[in-house]
Amino acid sequence: MTVRELSGSHRETPPADPAAVIDVRDLRMRYGSTDVLHGVDFTAHRGEVLTLLGPNGAGKTTIIEILEGFRMRSAGTVSVLGADPASAGEAWRARVGVVLQSWRDHGRWRVRELLHHLGRFYLHFSEPGCPRPYDTGELVEAVGLQPYADQKISTLSGGQRRRLDVAIGIVGRPELLFLDEPTAGFDPRARRDFHDLVHRLSDLDDTTVLLTTHDLAEAEKLADRILVLAGGRIVAGGSADQLARQVAGTAEVRWARGQERFLHATEDPAGFVRELFAQHGAEITDIEVRKATLEDTYLALVREHETGGGRDLRLEEVRP
Ligand SMILES: Nc1ncnc2c1ncn2[C@@H]1O[C@H](COP(=O)(O)OP(=O)(O)O)[C@@H](O)[C@H]1O
Ligand SMILES: [Mg+2]
Repeated sequence: MTVRELSGSHRETPPADPAAVIDVRDLRMRYGSTDVLHGVDFTAHRGEVLTLLGPNGAGKTTIIEILEGFRMRSAGTVSVLGADPASAGEAWRARVGVVLQSWRDHGRWRVRELLHHLGRFYLHFSEPGCPRPYDTGELVEAVGLQPYADQKISTLSGGQRRRLDVAIGIVGRPELLFLDEPTAGFDPRARRDFHDLVHRLSDLDDTTVLLTTHDLAEAEKLADRILVLAGGRIVAGGSADQLARQVAGTAEVRWARGQERFLHATEDPAGFVRELFAQHGAEITDIEVRKATLEDTYLALVREHETGGGRDLRLEEVRP
């Protein structure tokens, strides 16, 4: 079955959320006989920065490529800026920004020259209130390439090239920007500059951003909303705080009694510690209570959904 047939068969079903910039319903993907996506559902709204977080091989790139219209899905309904990416045309593509890493071969072009040249494609897709493309000078400055604007691309460092990749992705002032692991290979400074740029895009231009990462700290820093992809589904979504709260009741208590050390996971650390002191008060020589972090939450979610294991997120006691 082709995607065109699929999308036709779904056309009678209007997206449940017409205001959504991205609306994904029951998205499925099978490579050969391997199911990678088992029914992915999510929406993104205007101006939102959404992070798709998941381990390597979870299917993040697959989802991004389907939404970009570069990959055929096996099943499901997908609406991006009101159109099905599998059949959307050039005017749709002009509203979507994609960061590719394929501009390394244009080494003889100069930074400003290439951005100016690529920007011309977007001229006739200008809309009232949304002039296209970005002014080349503004863009070069926004991505921090001003000192290198007249340098040949072949002379840029790895980090500078990634900035150029991002500039190319946004030159048409996209309403929606896809970034697949955009900061891989960035040094800390480039990473911070990039985070600032993403925030500026979403704040100033109300650009919707969907980016993937397997870096929790990055997801936490950038995202209005984090979607955790594991076992072929979105298994959790929300702000970093909301996600952490999902297991916030789970805390670890570590203590020492004489020469022995203990670890216990509990939903009620205060009650557990009270009981511990009631029983062994004088013998306790050391104690530490640690609440679950976002990292704990994430690892627990991934473990649970990738192994298909039970719901018990708690650690085992080291000693009885
Ligand atoms: N073209 C393809 N053909 C077969 N399997 C693929 C193809 N692309 C990706 N896969 C497999 O699908 C799974 C998800 O891949 P991918 O979407 O790249 O994950 P992620 O980006 O989260 O690391 C992986 O197991 C990968 O090996
Ligand atoms: Mg990937």
